[in-house]
Amino acid sequence: MWEDIDVTVEKVPEGQRKEKPAQESLGFGRHFTDHMFLMKWNRQEGWHDARICPYQKFEFDPAAVVFHYGQAIFEGLKAYKDKDGQVFLFRPQDNFERMNGSAVRMCMPRLPIDKVLKSLKALLYLEREWIPTLEGATLYIRPTMIGVEPFLGVRPSEEYYFYIILSPVGAYYPEGFNPTKIYVSDEHVRAVKGGVGNVKTAGNYAASLYTSEIAKKAGYTQVLWLDACEHKYVEEVGTSNIFFKIGDELITPPLEGSILGGITRNSVLQLAARWGVKTVERDVTIDEVIAASQDGSLEEAFGTGTAAVISPVGELFYQGKPYIINNGETGPLSRRLYDELQAIQAGRAEDPFKWVVRV
Ligand code: COI
Repeated sequence: MWEDIDVTVEKVPEGQRKEKPAQESLGFGRHFTDHMFLMKWNRQEGWHDARICPYQKFEFDPAAVVFHYGQAIFEGLKAYKDKDGQVFLFRPQDNFERMNGSAVRMCMPRLPIDKVLKSLKALLYLEREWIPTLEGATLYIRPTMIGVEPFLGVRPSEEYYFYIILSPVGAYYPEGFNPTKIYVSDEHVRAVKGGVGNVKTAGNYAASLYTSEIAKKAGYTQVLWLDACEHKYVEEVGTSNIFFKIGDELITPPLEGSILGGITRNSVLQLAARWGVKTVERDVTIDEVIAASQDGSLEEAFGTGTAAVISPVGELFYQGKPYIINNGETGPLSRRLYDELQAIQAGRAEDPFKWVVRV
């Protein structure tokens, strides 16, 4: 399988492999499989030394660019396994195309997508026993690229590592599919148009931590970010995009540079439109959302993301006041989207958009 892609394989001997965690209590991002994919880049050789190897620690110079200037990008996608053991990926090409967009913006080398996809499939085949089969549990895939050249001047690194690690996961939020409570940040902002808000780069997540901690202390799961200039327009949740069902419209903010173009977001837009739901990508102010929550026209709100899947929102906290959505319960559209997406992803439902890739 890997001979034709010039990837070397070093397997962990059978007797030395890790014990697999119980699927009922995986949490998110705590367990890692036995093997990973690793490939290096430098100016002379380009991408080279591609290998599937034992999951391992790295040793870098303390001056490595990533530690100082945050030249790091990543992706998130998932592998699913059906009852017959067939493994599926969901729109993987889109993830790697987005990663190449991130690479360009962060002055990093573009990936050879075909080779990376073939290597990922080979890695998944090797690790197929790690893919959970329990409903709601999956194998999360984290491709990452970092600048590793030891150099303190501010310019792009001339050496990179690209690697893929795999983690069996349950729900991202401790609430599972139960509605989350979200804190609207009207003080701090996540990103500004023209910046890197639409890029999956580590710094966006680091910058969100301070406000997330404030939200957590106040009893909220996540932060809903507003636009950086007027603190008026809704942007995204940071770990997911956001949707509001107001009256007969399913609304999500448009992609204008400060919001990540989520693959789940795009899938929801296509799926809902196919069902006849009126989907709209438009500016939506926090005032409109709050007013709609008060007059009852805000029927549902939910986040979308690879990790979050469909994550219903039961409460928004804005300027010191809580606003309850749909009595704090999961709405029918959120439920339908969650069920249908999961069924398509796991190969249990028809896939009208040809999103699913067999491994
Ligand atoms: C994802 O949904 O895959 C993400 O990358 C979001 C988060 C876990 C950082």
